[in-house]
Amino acid sequence: MQIRPKVLVTRRAPGRAIDILEQLFEVDLWDENRAMPRDRLLDQVRKVDGLYSMLTDVIDTELFEAGPSLRVVSQMAVGVDNVDLAAATRLGIPVGHTPDVLNETTADTIFGLLLASVRRIGEGAAYVKAGRWGPWQPDLLLGGDLHHTTLGIVGMGRIGSAIARRARGFDVRVLYSNRRSDPEAERELGAHHRTLEDLLQESDHVVVMAPLNAGTYHLIDEAALRLMKPTATLVNGSRGGLVDLVALERALREGWIARAALDVTEPEPIPADHSLLMLENCLIIPHLGSASVATRKAMAELAAENLIKGLEGRRMTACANPEVYE
Ligand code: GLV
Ligand code: GLV
Repeated sequence: MQIRPKVLVTRRAPGRAIDILEQLFEVDLWDENRAMPRDRLLDQVRKVDGLYSMLTDVIDTELFEAGPSLRVVSQMAVGVDNVDLAAATRLGIPVGHTPDVLNETTADTIFGLLLASVRRIGEGAAYVKAGRWGPWQPDLLLGGDLHHTTLGIVGMGRIGSAIARRARGFDVRVLYSNRRSDPEAERELGAHHRTLEDLLQESDHVVVMAPLNAGTYHLIDEAALRLMKPTATLVNGSRGGLVDLVALERALREGWIARAALDVTEPEPIPADHSLLMLENCLIIPHLGSASVATRKAMAELAAENLIKGLEGRRMTACANPEVYE
């Protein structure tokens, strides 16, 4: 009898991904409606060959030591800041992720968040649900405009570019602040490169899409927020760690900027009694960037495909540490 590789799946994924894995491997599925507790993860990774992970799992040297037979990690997310990639590479473990399939959905969500914040749509909805809607008022919930403004995108990658394309339909001028200028973004999107400081000063609205790493942690801190316009909107669509929430709360209370909209927070989830949730000019949604039925299914299936290829010794379709193949 052929021995089937063992796989640990840390959360039930949408679509057929798990069924596909079960046809090929011996699958151990954490089937609860919460992230796998750390001690269970460290215990259950002990004898597995492959790990199908979520962004809520911390995958570090402690985990690799707990699972000495682990050969492949495949995460159902594009961001892999929860994975110690250098350690994985040292151990020869390819780490799969799910880029591209989520670009358009995430751009829809983050652009929608920007529009909702600027035009105070969340506040309006809360106002009606609270039973406060009276006769029409000429000055009720007046907000800013998105059309014909300048949008700064911090981190013009695949999702940032998709946001820039949407912005062009609103006659918005796009600035971006990657470390290096990106001639393709300039040609195709009409975007202009700026230093982060110049972008923060010139933009009417700022969207943060840069990945989280040691160099981008708290990129948006007090100094950055103080450079922004008092009428500006800040949107974080990347990872909570990019924005210092203590500084952001002061900025919103003291009017250094007008409003913020966050799809991600640090910590995540944000505690229900967090003082930021008291602010009307702060719109927060629970990490929904890629959360469409079709896109989550595509991510789950791409993650399954990466895991299968990895365990079969083939090159993954999307690998976050391609150095492992060198
Ligand atoms: C979601 O945030 C992802 O990284 O896919
Ligand atoms: C607003 O609804 C208007 O008709 O001006």
